[in-house]
Amino acid sequence: MWMPLQSMAEEAGQNWKTHCSKCHGADGKGKTKAGIKLKLKDYTTAEFQESITDKELFAATKDGVKDGEKVKMKPFAEKLSDEEIEALVGHVRSFLE
Ligand code: HEC
Repeated sequence: MWMPLQSMAEEAGQNWKTHCSKCHGADGKGKTKAGIKLKLKDYTTAEFQESITDKELFAATKDGVKDGEKVKMKPFAEKLSDEEIEALVGHVRSFLE
């Protein structure tokens, strides 16, 4: 569905809050209770932002993250559309300070 950029960004912010902030934090720093336990990376750093491509951000969100057979993060392929995931990639990029 076509949407103006502004509302796509708003929707991405909302989706981040609903689906991601519990672990990765509202601010993307990963300093939530779960995030600290999971040793999540700080998405506001240039170090993180430079370490990962848009394609990898998209794939991690859509297909989840695995360490061998162990699921580190569940896939969101069934909860979010490709368009929503695309917008979330943009949201993750916006955390850079
Ligand atoms: C239940 C906790 C949890 C939730 C909810 C969660 N994640 Fe994750 N996420 C993780 C863990 C754990 C990893 C793996 C970190 C690692 O490599 O050790 C991860 C990794 C990632 C990565 C790969 C880069 C990295 O940090 O290693 C991306 C991108 C990502 N998450 C985005 C998202 C997005 C977008 C959402 C919401 C749609 C989301 N996550 C929701 C726990 C979570």
